[in-house]
Amino acid sequence: MPTNLLNEQAFKIRDVNLATEGRHHIRLAQAEMPGLMSLREEHKAAQPLKGARIAGSLSMTVQTAVLIETFVALGAEVRWASCNIFSTQDEAAAAIVVGSGTPEAPKGVPVFAWKGQTSEEYWSCLERTLDWSAEAAAEGADFTGPNMLLDDGGDLIFLVHQGVIFEQSGQLLQQQSWTNHEHEIVRNLLEASKASDPKRFQTIAPAIIGASEETTTGVQRLRELAAEDQLLFPVINVNDSATKSKFDNKYGIRHSLVDGLNRATDMLIGGKVAFVAGYGDVGKGSAEALRGQGARVIVSEIDPICALQAALDGYQVAQIEDVVETVDFFVTATGNVNVITPAHIAKMKNLAVLSNVGHFDNEIDVLGLAATPGVTKVNIRPLVDEYVMPSGRSVLVLSEGRVMNLGNATGHPSFVMSASFSNQVLAQIEAYQNAADLGIGVHTLSRILDEKVARLHLAALGVKLTELTTEQAKYVGLPKEGPYKSDLYRY
Ligand code: NAD
Ligand code: ADE
Repeated sequence: MPTNLLNEQAFKIRDVNLATEGRHHIRLAQAEMPGLMSLREEHKAAQPLKGARIAGSLSMTVQTAVLIETFVALGAEVRWASCNIFSTQDEAAAAIVVGSGTPEAPKGVPVFAWKGQTSEEYWSCLERTLDWSAEAAAEGADFTGPNMLLDDGGDLIFLVHQGVIFEQSGQLLQQQSWTNHEHEIVRNLLEASKASDPKRFQTIAPAIIGASEETTTGVQRLRELAAEDQLLFPVINVNDSATKSKFDNKYGIRHSLVDGLNRATDMLIGGKVAFVAGYGDVGKGSAEALRGQGARVIVSEIDPICALQAALDGYQVAQIEDVVETVDFFVTATGNVNVITPAHIAKMKNLAVLSNVGHFDNEIDVLGLAATPGVTKVNIRPLVDEYVMPSGRSVLVLSEGRVMNLGNATGHPSFVMSASFSNQVLAQIEAYQNAADLGIGVHTLSRILDEKVARLHLAALGVKLTELTTEQAKYVGLPKEGPYKSDLYRY
């Protein structure tokens, strides 16, 4: 539990005294986030988010702190929670709560997040981002909730939808990504909410103008909701901006996967065998990072195109069953369920390391492992657990099977998150200002905005872009100022 809850009504974080340390980290991160800082400069006079009340659920890291303060600088009010129980940096949360006294962060923002939450606490924190009664009272206004959502993984957007459905029917939408325990927690939360206000979510949902979603798995869940005609407002799919998925998912994990493995285990990766499940954007970055450390990397894939890519990139492509006994480091990056099962784990080498970097914790069946007769668990240090099997062999499970690059390390570095979060800022502006034109559905930002995000990051790296001549622009049939690629181009 947090040790300093002096103002539990207004925020809930680990320790507000970490704010000074957090502010130093934020200051240094700003220097590595040119996209966010130039969007602040470009839009601060026009205040395009004035009147926006953003409820956010995305890992409360130092980089997210710079995003939150960018929203404030553009006129928004914000409330925030993490999208994962282990992904908060407590010093960043504290700095955001305290604020910096600058125009970007005049008085701080309510945050409900700390590293090491229980699932019950996680859902209660998401719910707190939807309660705007304090702001309404302070402003003499009659709103009850946010008018914009920002999500990473879909849980916050789903909570609002589930709330409406539950109030109307007493039912929940079954979520494959949630355990039975999570369904029970959400049901209890919604029952309590309905008992105190039977129309609470039916009041909150219609006031929501739009939303943005950060990650592959969240987008997939929202597309399913839209396909079932259940989506209630426009959502911008930030993940499929090229400057998000082709950078954060790939180059971000190339940094933070190895960071997490090193902090958790300190084992040499070079010369060992690593197995990466999934060769999408995150799998590609993961495999490259492990190869960069000198590991011999084996990839598994279900998609023949991605499998062929992995093969031509020089990796062995195999089924887990054929190589499981030889692997030292396992990494799951599929967004899929039960990719590594207790039956696989029983055959693993002594002290094989299991880590997942997909969004949800169901890629490795850690619950099944823990429930296997004769298996015992020894905690080695925070978020590093040894499971001893009846054979006498052990495996090391990192972050309890949850995103280990955020649990065992601090996630992707600032520069790459600047590109992701510049897309988030543009998405929030777009959804807030043009929701009616967008209409209910899952949308992407235009290619020209995607190219703009890339442009904002070139100068910091000393990149000198070649400009089309008039003759060349005419020859290839492109506007000199872009966009340069059609929507079909895959990068
Ligand atoms: P993606 O769709 O590009 O790649 C996933 C790949 O896994 C696909 O190529 C798919 O064919 C493959 N796959 C699916 N089931 C499989 C199975 N059973 N065995 C082997 N391969 C399988 O998605 P992505 O953008 O790479 O994201 C992967 C996951 O990582 C998602 O859950 C996403 O939300 C998450 N993510 C995490 C971080 C992080 O910081 N940890 C960052 C971005 C995305
Ligand atoms: N996802 C991956 N890395 C992240 C970071 N540094 N901050 C927020 N979300 C992330």
